[in-house]
Amino acid sequence: MANSNLTNAKNAKNDEFYTQYHDIQKEIEAYLEFNPSVFKGKTILMPCDDPEWSNFTKFFAQNFERFGLKKLISTSYAPDSKIHKSAYQPTLFETTNPQFDEKKTVKNGKIFTLTSDKSGDGKIDVDDLEWQYLQGDGNFNSKEIIKLRDEADMIITNPPFSLFREFVAWIIEANKQFLIIGNMNAITYKEVFPLIKENEMWLGATGNGNDMVFAVPKGSEINENDRQKAARLGYVGDFTRLGNSCWFTNIDHGRRHKPLELMTKEEIVKYGTKKEFEKYDNYDAIEVSFVKFIPSDYEGVMGVPISFLDKYSPEQFEIVGMCENEDLYNFKTKVYTTDECKQAYLDKFGKKGTYDLNASGVVLRDGLLEKVYQRILIKHKK
Ligand SMILES: C[S@@+](CC[C@H](N)C(=O)[O-])C[C@H]1O[C@@H](n2cnc3c(N)ncnc32)[C@H](O)[C@@H]1O
Repeated sequence: MANSNLTNAKNAKNDEFYTQYHDIQKEIEAYLEFNPSVFKGKTILMPCDDPEWSNFTKFFAQNFERFGLKKLISTSYAPDSKIHKSAYQPTLFETTNPQFDEKKTVKNGKIFTLTSDKSGDGKIDVDDLEWQYLQGDGNFNSKEIIKLRDEADMIITNPPFSLFREFVAWIIEANKQFLIIGNMNAITYKEVFPLIKENEMWLGATGNGNDMVFAVPKGSEINENDRQKAARLGYVGDFTRLGNSCWFTNIDHGRRHKPLELMTKEEIVKYGTKKEFEKYDNYDAIEVSFVKFIPSDYEGVMGVPISFLDKYSPEQFEIVGMCENEDLYNFKTKVYTTDECKQAYLDKFGKKGTYDLNASGVVLRDGLLEKVYQRILIKHKK
């Protein structure tokens, strides 16, 4: 298998990770706490969600009345179209329904809608979901689902991990409110970072960068370490975990309006780092390796870890850029030549190679050029 196919297959395996009810509940409560009518009168689309599996659909269907929703639409992707195939068995709920179709169950997606009390039990909940086969396979990028997207006010889901960039672009082009799960590393994607910088997207309120547990199709191969970690969190069996998942959203919540409590530069040097802040060799900024050591009184640009975004308040800080190769934000004060990159490698590792100095912030330590981890460039708000 070619390398890119191998990577796709690996990513596609993560496409079949299913979010836990508790994680959804915790996150959603944070938005309600900030704005109790956040979902009132809204049409919500969950475009990667078969209610048989999706706790997003179950959670929102169960809370339809409490949230004052107008309509819930949940669509699923055809089993035959999935890159990562697992044994598929239609549910009894589907096979006993008069509209069951042996071909369509594997070739077509399904649409589930909830608007009113159909069962006549006096409440609107998961029992009132109505379903039918879609014309196509339920690909979120198909005309059929795009029409549903355009009808919706909000898109809420955990999308396929391997299509995260495409999925974000798909939401943004329609200018919708959204809440989705992704990987912390996505922050640095060219398609994502500009949205974060301009405060058009931010991290959700809970669980960012902590272990998040996901269900996987029955009998899936699970990394033993991940299985054990999931078990320690109380999920035994077909569960795995990811350590760097997070929520991405443009719906407001209280956490992002709480400023970080910080020490002054002098206090940090005295009580924390015990050494002066380093200046980058290639940026007019200081290196701050821990969020807790962001000085409260530094007026210039600071390079901070991406985990900063979990603590970011737009009233306290401005995001001005990121240390990256292309210098998209015009902050580089130096671009290293190929020869300098080769020399830096030789100096540091004692053998031939190339140290990709232009990809990140660089500091001079003991006379050697040293790359630091991925950094976001921020400033205090005046
Ligand atoms: C990470 S799982 C999450 C499922 C569910 N949203 C949840 O959180 O439990 C992503 C789902 O999207 C489906 N999927 C993959 N590619 C898709 C596409 N192009 N359009 C729609 N759904 C897709 C996968 O088969 C999988 O069921």
